[in-house]
Amino acid sequence: MKHYMDWGMKNRLAQLIQADGKALFLPIDHGYFQGPTRMLEKPGETIKPLWQYADALMMTRGVLRNCIDPAISKPVIMRVSGAATVVGEDLANENLVTSIEEIIRLNASAVSMSVFVGSKYEHQSLSNLAKLVDECEDYGIPVMAVTAVGRELEKREARYLALCCRVAAEIGARVVKTYYCAENFEKVVDGCPVPVVIAGGPKTETQREVFDFVYDGMQKGAIGVNLGRNIWQTEHPVAAIRAIRAIIHDDYTAEEAQGLFEQVKAGKA
Ligand code: 5RP
Repeated sequence: MKHYMDWGMKNRLAQLIQADGKALFLPIDHGYFQGPTRMLEKPGETIKPLWQYADALMMTRGVLRNCIDPAISKPVIMRVSGAATVVGEDLANENLVTSIEEIIRLNASAVSMSVFVGSKYEHQSLSNLAKLVDECEDYGIPVMAVTAVGRELEKREARYLALCCRVAAEIGARVVKTYYCAENFEKVVDGCPVPVVIAGGPKTETQREVFDFVYDGMQKGAIGVNLGRNIWQTEHPVAAIRAIRAIIHDDYTAEEAQGLFEQVKAGKA
């Protein structure tokens, strides 16, 4: 029995993390706490030109069921934590909102949930992570922990992020998503025994900033990104995702990615 479960886990991880060991996840889960986020009002439309360039899509069961063609051949990372919103009391007060039966029924390749280390709800979110890992491991489904900072974006510094990532991995997450930080990001990755992917955060002023931090994060050991707003909220989402994909899978520098971005934008690539 155990042998088959191992195969399932390995197979799902191989769908997410490509043969080169790298991954580009495209999240469209923001509505679960933000409502109809700008440019994500109709998630099915938003991802239509983009999904082919992603290795996996991340979303809730509601968006999956209602907005995504079941024939789509992309692995899905299902967001299964929630029950707090931007207008509520505390974003960290999340719980698990999707059963293991539903995860299996909807054929998720992985699941994701936020952990709010250092918040009032730290214990609750970490206990939920442990529970989810126990349930999902039984069926060979990898859990990706999302190290969330809530509204406190200033928490994006290496010491804090390293602690969050390590704790999430110790509890059993198979992949950890974290923010990039300009200083000592390698300490975040080096202290985490499972693959780390970088989240994008709010849209940056320029596209180049994204290419720079993705490139630097990859040089420092991240295996890829889970990056949403800095793709689909930009003026040229296809050019953005293709350039980011080139950094991740084709070893482009930020400069080269900018070149590709300009070419795609101009319809020349
Ligand atoms: C939202 C998430 C997102 O998946 C994550 O933040 C990545 O998206 P973005 O690049 O827009 O920050 O977990 O809850």
